[in-house]
Amino acid sequence: MVKAVVIITVSDTCFKNHAKDESGPALFQLVKEQFPDAYIHTIIVPDEKELIERELKYFCESNIDLILTTGGTGLSSRDVTPEATKAVIQREVPAIPIAMTLESLKKTPMAMLSRATAGIRDRTLIINFPGSKKAVVECIEVVKPVLSHAVSLLA
Ligand code: MTE
Repeated sequence: MVKAVVIITVSDTCFKNHAKDESGPALFQLVKEQFPDAYIHTIIVPDEKELIERELKYFCESNIDLILTTGGTGLSSRDVTPEATKAVIQREVPAIPIAMTLESLKKTPMAMLSRATAGIRDRTLIINFPGSKKAVVECIEVVKPVLSHAVSLLA
């Protein structure tokens, strides 16, 4: 059962002006619909690798089942979410981003530009999503069917 979820918006722009964050609130709504009884916490961090790593580690130590990040997966020099995620996970779950990419490519060729990753640290599943509201809506549809089972396997 998914009991506790953290949503991390990774964006310099949204960190400076929280009102600009559209993908974090969109993810929150989508997670709330799927897991109405879960505790859901959201935070916004800038595109700083060490800071992202610190937050990921902190929440993995805090009995969080699932961490969803949004943003910072692209090609610009400030996009470091996948690197921060890879630095903290102990095992990768490569088919999650593969599935997201395959489905997303049916909607936009821009899906090729996301370097999102997914993996496990201790008992927490971490999944990167791209940074737009449109992208999180499209990508959560892909992973939705496996989230409960994935989390139950880690318990
Ligand atoms: N995936 C889906 N499903 N839908 C989208 O609109 N946008 C792409 C891609 N993945 C997109 C998508 C774009 S335009 C970029 S640049 C990359 O995600 C990386 O986005 P990020 O740097 O905001 O994480």
